[in-house]
Amino acid sequence: MSAPTTAASAANATPKRARERVFSGIQPSGAPHIGNYLGAIRHWVAEQDIFDNIYCVVDLHAITVPQDPGELRENVRQLAATLLACGLDPQRSALFVQSHVHEHAELAWLLNCVTPMGWLNRMTQFKTKAGDDRETVSAGLYDYPVLMAADILLYQTDAVPVGDDQRQHVELTRDIANSFNARFGETFVEPRALIREVGARIMALDDPAKKMSKSGADTSYIALLDPPEVIRKKIARATTDSQRTIVFDESRPGIFNLLTIYQLLVGQSREQIEAEFAGKGYKEFKAALTEGLVATLTPIQQRYNQLVADPAELDRLLAGGAERVRPISHATLAQVQQRMGLR
Ligand code: TYM
Repeated sequence: MSAPTTAASAANATPKRARERVFSGIQPSGAPHIGNYLGAIRHWVAEQDIFDNIYCVVDLHAITVPQDPGELRENVRQLAATLLACGLDPQRSALFVQSHVHEHAELAWLLNCVTPMGWLNRMTQFKTKAGDDRETVSAGLYDYPVLMAADILLYQTDAVPVGDDQRQHVELTRDIANSFNARFGETFVEPRALIREVGARIMALDDPAKKMSKSGADTSYIALLDPPEVIRKKIARATTDSQRTIVFDESRPGIFNLLTIYQLLVGQSREQIEAEFAGKGYKEFKAALTEGLVATLTPIQQRYNQLVADPAELDRLLAGGAERVRPISHATLAQVQQRMGLR
């Protein structure tokens, strides 16, 4: 089926953007942690000159579970300040708040109406989050992946840099794009997930069988804003095992996870790290890991403190980010409405 060319499709014309476009999001719920940093944020920062970058604080996703309104408002600003402190540069990356661009919610509705229930029934994250409470969790939690598809597809995104836990959601997004294009004519770019080999799944410090998560116990994660003394205590308590050698052995998940974190912080090879700790004990390794974390996080915390001291400037930056992306989201939504017969 060939669809009419519109101002909207012209504005979105996919062939030949100078750079591939990346889009990713992060929820303003709980404290952002080193899993978020190592699995996602640091790549967003490092690759700003490679891609055309759009990053989003996804408050509409956060409210799929209960949030205190005042805390949510604060968390959004604090998360934006954290991302900027980590090195997202508003000159090179558009950073904005999801609810400030109404097209996200609107496209999600349109996609809801073309997404089979069966696809959502397969989403493992919903099953984990809802657990035994399936009857009482919000419909929004069930629909979460469709809103995420809307986020990504609104910007004709080529690649989605995320941790491993988002893989299934990006696959669903591809399926939705594909079936929409087949039914209504070429409309969406089919995005691919950009998931790294190392660091895409940082595990909880207190239980290396679980992924590190904002909703875990305090001792299960290192928050990006944890002061050195807290980091030291959490690492000292982190689960290891009763063996002595400090080697990358996946059958020893506790020490493997800590070594992976160390590897990403210091940027050395596994061989170099194993050589560094040959003949040494957990105590020395944990001291080095603590030092690596403090060295990475201290400058981020210093910049964060400066940024949160000026909430008006933060709001201005976020408004500027929304302003920048709005023409793209507007054009995509208009095109989708037209394809579906709403315009
Ligand atoms: P969120 O807020 O849970 O996490 C933000 C990013 O951090 C990654 N991440 C991890 N990486 C490695 N190890 C971990 N333990 C770990 N925990 C979290 C996540 O994979 C993610 O990349 N649904 C998304 C937010 C979202 C989104 C989007 C992402 C909404 N719309 C569109 C991409 C594109 C989420 O809850 O991320």
